[in-house]
Formats: sequence, structure tokens, C-alpha cells
Amino acid sequence: MPTEKDGPDARGPAPSGTAGPCELITSRERLAEVRAGLTGPVGVVMTMGALHAGHAALIRRARGESGSVLVTVFVNPLQFGPGEDLDRYPRSLQEDLLLCAREGADAVFAPSAGTVYPGGAPAIRVCSGPLGEVLEGRSRPGHFDGMLTVVAKLLGLTRPDQAYFGQKDAQQLVLIRRMVQDLELGVRVHAVPTVRDPDGVALSSRNAYLSGQDRLAATALCRALLAGLAAAPGGAGTVRRAAGEVLDAEPGCHVDYLALVHPRTLRELDDGATGAALLAVAARVGGTRLIDNLPLRLGDERTPDEGH
Ligand code: PAJ
Repeated sequence: MPTEKDGPDARGPAPSGTAGPCELITSRERLAEVRAGLTGPVGVVMTMGALHAGHAALIRRARGESGSVLVTVFVNPLQFGPGEDLDRYPRSLQEDLLLCAREGADAVFAPSAGTVYPGGAPAIRVCSGPLGEVLEGRSRPGHFDGMLTVVAKLLGLTRPDQAYFGQKDAQQLVLIRRMVQDLELGVRVHAVPTVRDPDGVALSSRNAYLSGQDRLAATALCRALLAGLAAAPGGAGTVRRAAGEVLDAEPGCHVDYLALVHPRTLRELDDGATGAALLAVAARVGGTRLIDNLPLRLGDERTPDEGH
């Protein structure tokens, strides 16, 4: 079953940025040469390609805050489980290059699996630990270990000063921050707020798998999150109930989890909890697994800034 985390479309327009050409790099040697010539703080945006307006927002943010911007495009076999959509994961490198050029990236590193893993699957890998076993990790065993391993390798290959990741994949972001801290990787990690279509659905490469009817059902995820946000002043129990009711009312939406967790530890919050929280949902719609989340503050009128 395709899972929403890795997968076409919503390839929205990407205005802005400088429209110069963007070099396509495929070898480690050329990457090292280009990296040596980059000026100012270097920002990196890591992707699996099939780029859409969500990815463009990351590149734009990196462009605004860095002297040079590298984008990586690599569909990492290590983070796909058996039966997931590695083989049919959408690939659109030429369009991706155009988007990167429009957004002002300096170069795109799009290596083959043989270039990233020259000795085959790596013997030494990053272990995501307990944080990688909850939420998405429960449904996708090994996914986060594979993800962290490639992120560590790509950080080593590109040596950025700062790296940009989407709030859309909240657990991935938590894990990457934690890896950078625990392993002293010396890169600043920035979160970029989730980019959504006008109907509220978070942009994802996998939205292209949805039929028209699925698409309507898919809006239940963001509607549930918004209901939770509106209920946040009433506390955790109220948030869970409000979001759960929206999901229950949508028969086309098969919920995997609805969780209200601490934004860094990912531990479930008890009903009396106040302060920062993350409301996260995963559901199967048609044959596609979708995820979404919203940071919120419990027992408080203010809403937090998603990216910081
Ligand atoms: P991918 O799914 O291509 O996503 C690349 C980056 O774009 C991630 O940081 C993701 O959170 C962000 N992103 C995706 N959709 C978004 C949206 N609607 N709004 C904002 N940001 C969005 O995540 C991966 O690739 C891989 O796991 C990777 C980190 C590249 C490692 O292989």
C-alpha cells in the first residue's frame, strides 16, 4: 500500500527566486567540487523528488536565509518497507530541476543508489530508538532508521550550515533534530510550516493516488485537526473528542491513529495537560495512507507558530 509519507502531485506553480540554471550533480566527486566553491552559509533541502509547492516553500526559505542552496533528490530504498511503493514512487527529475532553478537553488544532487550506498546496504545505521517506534514508526517498522541513516549520509556529503525540513512530517523533524543533537552533527535544523491546497489537504506527492471521492474523504484529516485546534482552549480531552468526531463522521477515512502528543517527546498527553502539543493523524483513504498534523497550545487562546 502506498503510504503518504513518501510519494505525485500538487506540483503547484513556484514563482519567485532567481531563474538561473541549476546544475544537476550525480557524482560524489562533482558534489565535492561544487560544495568547495559555494559561498556564505550553505542551506540544504533534502527531498525524494516529485517536487511540489511544499518542497518549493522549503527551497524558498533556504534561499532567503543562506548564501547557497543545495537540493538533494534521492528516493532512499532504506526507508521503504516491503510492500511499500518504492518501485512506483513518482520520479520527475526534469520538472524537479526546473522547480529548483525557479526557486533559486544553486545545484541539485540527484545520485543513484549505487552512489549513495557504494558498498550496498550500509552495515552501520542510525537507530531512531523509542521516538521512532511510536506513531508512524508503529505502522512502518524500520522506516525512521532508514530515513535517519540517509539524512546523516546526505549531511556528510553536502556539509551544510543549515538544513530545512517540513512540519508536514512532524515525527521525521523531531527525529532529525534529536539525531543532530545527540550525535553533535553541527547543523542548524529549521522547520517550515505545512503547505496546503485550498481545500486544506496538505500537499503530498501521494495525493495524486487519490480518486475524486477519496480527495473529499481526505479533507477529513485537516478538518479534524482544525476542530482540534478550535477546541484547544478546553484542554486535551476536548481536543481529542472534537477531532475524533470529525474523523468518525467520514466513512471513507480509515483512521490508523489520532494522537495528541508532546511536540518533542511524542508522548501521549493526559487529559489535564496544558501548553505546547502536537495533534497528529494518519488514515487510509482509498489505497493511500495519509498523514497530517498541527501544533497547538492546550488551555491557551494563542496558537503557536508552526515553523520556528
Ligand atoms: P519528501 O517526502 O520528498 O519530503 C522532503 C521534504 O519536504 C521534507 O522535509 C518534508 O517534510 C517536506 N514537505 C513535504 N510535503 C510538504 C508540505 N506539504 N509542506 C511543507 N513541507 C513539505 O521527507 C522526505 O522526502 C525524506 O524522508 C527525506 C527527508 C528526503 C529523506 O529521504
